[in-house]
Amino acid sequence: MQKKSLREVAVSGQRVLVRSDLNVPLKGGVITDDTRIRASLPTVRQILDGGGGVVLMSHLGRPKGQVAPAFSLAPVAARLSELLGQDVPLHTDFHQVTDVPVGGVCLLENVRFHPGETANDPAFASALAAWGDLFVNDAFGSSHRAHASVVGVADHLEAVAGALVEKELVAFSGILAAPARPFVAILGGAKVSDKILVIENLLERVDALLIGGGMAYTFLAARGEAIGASKLDADKVEYAASLLAKAAASGVRVLLPTDHVVADRFAEDAERRVVASIPDQWMALDIGPETSAAYRAEVSAAGTVLWNGPMGVFELSPFAAGTRDICEACAESPATTVIGGGDSAAAVNVFGLAARMSHISTGGGASLELLEGKPLPGIAALADA
Ligand code: 3PG
Repeated sequence: MQKKSLREVAVSGQRVLVRSDLNVPLKGGVITDDTRIRASLPTVRQILDGGGGVVLMSHLGRPKGQVAPAFSLAPVAARLSELLGQDVPLHTDFHQVTDVPVGGVCLLENVRFHPGETANDPAFASALAAWGDLFVNDAFGSSHRAHASVVGVADHLEAVAGALVEKELVAFSGILAAPARPFVAILGGAKVSDKILVIENLLERVDALLIGGGMAYTFLAARGEAIGASKLDADKVEYAASLLAKAAASGVRVLLPTDHVVADRFAEDAERRVVASIPDQWMALDIGPETSAAYRAEVSAAGTVLWNGPMGVFELSPFAAGTRDICEACAESPATTVIGGGDSAAAVNVFGLAARMSHISTGGGASLELLEGKPLPGIAALADA
């Protein structure tokens, strides 16, 4: 990595201001998945072990610059206290800088309670920077946001990459720059428009592209196949056709579903069938078993697998098999397996296979922007190595 790392700076006696992505899912004030909190711990421990104190900051949700109790980081402070085995106080008044002793950890309340955060207001960034002697960006999942706590504070303090940011960048740059071949990318999710730039960038790198999920039907429509009432990005059909032509011209194999689990409506208890050709009025909600088998074979023969986006509506159990099959294939494959953040990371957790992947990203939007080949502002703002 060409950016300076936390490993390269002395933290002894320093107050280290750390931006983490502690934007975890909550239901009724209870954290339903603490992956991001756990992923933030190596950096915190590294600073404590080095003799520093830690001031953590994060956003939670999108409270739009207003104080909103439903978006408080209080449950996150409580979970951090449990995981670290020490009290992690939550500071609600940013302008009242409180001393952080060596070995201490505190958390600033949701930075998005202030309009200056998303506006990257220099005065707000300066108020945040007053909490630290050094700034560490460890919020990989927020590094595509040019916000005050991610980018602005780097104007006031020396800024270095934390352990999680480093791990994520190493995983993605490894597969993008020098993948073990064959390099197979599996892309799914609802909309073609969300993945266009990713596909464009990957076409120059991968050997095969396996497409599933809602976006597959726009590609099938581009090939002139019947897609019934399946999801269609009508204004992207022509574009999908041009991507298929581009892939063919560059020798990238593109696999599309050859069979489907179709339903008569979008519901868990819908009537469903496995078909090769989608009948009128029916919608495809998952890839079929023949497609699954073909995709599994590609994954098991791959040197590198990148997976981003579910193969079907895996939240509804009758349409989860395709996504589960891809998870299992990645888990069993000897390939380096990198799983994008967001829905695919959630699926890997739901199926209990997280420990068997090479890398699962903690960033949804951030990992997509990285795969699009875009520079991330939160990384660009760090000191050069
Ligand atoms: C995420 O969940 O992808 C990150 O925390 C970024 O959140 P945002 O899309 O609200 O900026």
